[in-house]
Amino acid sequence: MKQQQVKEHFARQADEYEELMVKLVPQYLFQHQVIQDLLPHENREYHVLDLGCGNGILSELIFSKLPRARAVGFDLTENMLQAYRKKLARFADRFSLQSGDFRVDPIGSDFDIILAGLTLHHLTWPERRAFYHHLYAALNSGGKFITRDIIIDEDRAVTEDHYSLWKKFMLSQGENPEFWYEKHLEKDHPMTLTDHFSWLHEAGFIKTACHWRLYNFAVTSAEKP
Ligand SMILES: C[S@@+](CC[C@H](N)C(=O)[O-])C[C@H]1O[C@@H](n2cnc3c(N)ncnc32)[C@H](O)[C@@H]1O
Repeated sequence: MKQQQVKEHFARQADEYEELMVKLVPQYLFQHQVIQDLLPHENREYHVLDLGCGNGILSELIFSKLPRARAVGFDLTENMLQAYRKKLARFADRFSLQSGDFRVDPIGSDFDIILAGLTLHHLTWPERRAFYHHLYAALNSGGKFITRDIIIDEDRAVTEDHYSLWKKFMLSQGENPEFWYEKHLEKDHPMTLTDHFSWLHEAGFIKTACHWRLYNFAVTSAEKP
């Protein structure tokens, strides 16, 4: 799928983003608890990058838990950045927003935490493998990279079972599973956790771990030594 289509797809979702995610992603809200627990516990001046920030749902976790943290929200879709500005207006002095395509535009550097929520699956596998080197370079030593993403299992038959369970979940939420499944096949490039961890190690990351997984979704983290 071309970047313009990705942009149009998310521009249409900006206003109702969270309600939709709850119906499309199993345990979407529970994942926030898992991610929040992965954030550091000390009250320091963290510099955070929220890649593919959308409406700022993950930045909100940062601002709530870490009172002195500042974030850069980076996203391709202007409507999403507007939704971020509106949703997190009460934290306006703690964030800056950057409009750009992380495949080609600079993502900045000197970050203590990088979050990537449901966004890296837009990269093709070769793009993603190379991108992990950029993420590594953008992090400070001791920095943490946290992702929630769409994945596939190493075993094709298991992936098929996961897709069936995912469709059953979406149907139970009143959504059209076939519509969203087709969209997923059209625009996403999910990888296995084996590839994910192997590409992270290749880029220099350590302490790679999966903290939550259900069907074709997972929350993971890695650290820069
Ligand atoms: C599904 S939303 C995720 C929002 C939020 N991070 C979350 O965890 O729910 C994906 C976001 O990634 C953005 N995105 C997709 N490809 C991108 C790219 N190449 N560069 C920057 N943003 C991108 C989209 O515009 C969209 O806002």
